[in-house]
Amino acid sequence: MSAQSETVRRLTVVDIAKLHTDGERIPMLTAYDMPTARLLDEAGIPLLLVGDSVGRVMLGYENEIPVSMADMLHHVKAVARGAKRALVIADMPFMSYATVDTALENAGRLLAEGGAQAVKLEGGVRSARTIETIVRAGIPVMGHIGLTPQAINAIGRVRVQGKTRDTARALLGDALAVQEAGAFAIVLELVPAQLAAAITERLRIPTIGIGAGAGCSGQVQVVTDLLGMEAWHPRHARPYADLRGTILAAASRYAADVAAGTFPGESETVRMDDGVLTEVLGRSSLDRPEPALKGIPLDRDL
Ligand code: KIV
Repeated sequence: MSAQSETVRRLTVVDIAKLHTDGERIPMLTAYDMPTARLLDEAGIPLLLVGDSVGRVMLGYENEIPVSMADMLHHVKAVARGAKRALVIADMPFMSYATVDTALENAGRLLAEGGAQAVKLEGGVRSARTIETIVRAGIPVMGHIGLTPQAINAIGRVRVQGKTRDTARALLGDALAVQEAGAFAIVLELVPAQLAAAITERLRIPTIGIGAGAGCSGQVQVVTDLLGMEAWHPRHARPYADLRGTILAAASRYAADVAAGTFPGESETVRMDDGVLTEVLGRSSLDRPEPALKGIPLDRDL
């Protein structure tokens, strides 16, 4: 371990609160694996979310519903190993917080076994008691309101939430309930920009927006959208790289080089002493096969 990595201090929710009170906008990204987490950490991203979006973007599930605690623990462990400084937040998957008791047990597992420092769960008023219980156990919780993907079967389809008077009022109530339950931050997903800004102004805790405009205290993006890994990305995402193009080009060039016999080249090849091989193959008149190699045909016996 280098001297530099030994001195890295893990960020805590206290640091995140300070960023917020200092008026700094907080960047958060999802991460699902060790090397990406390590890079995002190196880039200075303070919050890494192991989202249940892992099901869609990494595991090929249709949506977030099939994501299990085992899936989450597997990816949370990898991210926690990769990121030394960022605060790692583990999403609580569908049904893992259906009762307060299961919520407490599963939140504890995501920290104790997974190595996360906080959990995130969906729902406002309906989840307030669960959030309160988990926070009381010493586990920091991030809330998540607006579009809540685990409720997709109840909502019908992915769409902006809170556009009408009643739904906007309900979202404001949800945000306050999550804050009063003790959450350290709250994700606002697919919420009209003006409503997200109004919620942000009324909360003490930071709001982290995704498709919720620039008036939030911070922003979160799904890392595969940020890196341009898919042909399609949601309207609210901005690809900062074209990894899809880079990966396609790299894989095609590699396949062409293998086909042409130009990979591996000299610099990618390991050689041995030709004399040793001559002896092994029994091409030298002085060579006697080792007793253990008796069954192996040597060139001179063929
Ligand atoms: O699972 C996820 O990636 C999320 C973010 C979109 C906030 O919940």
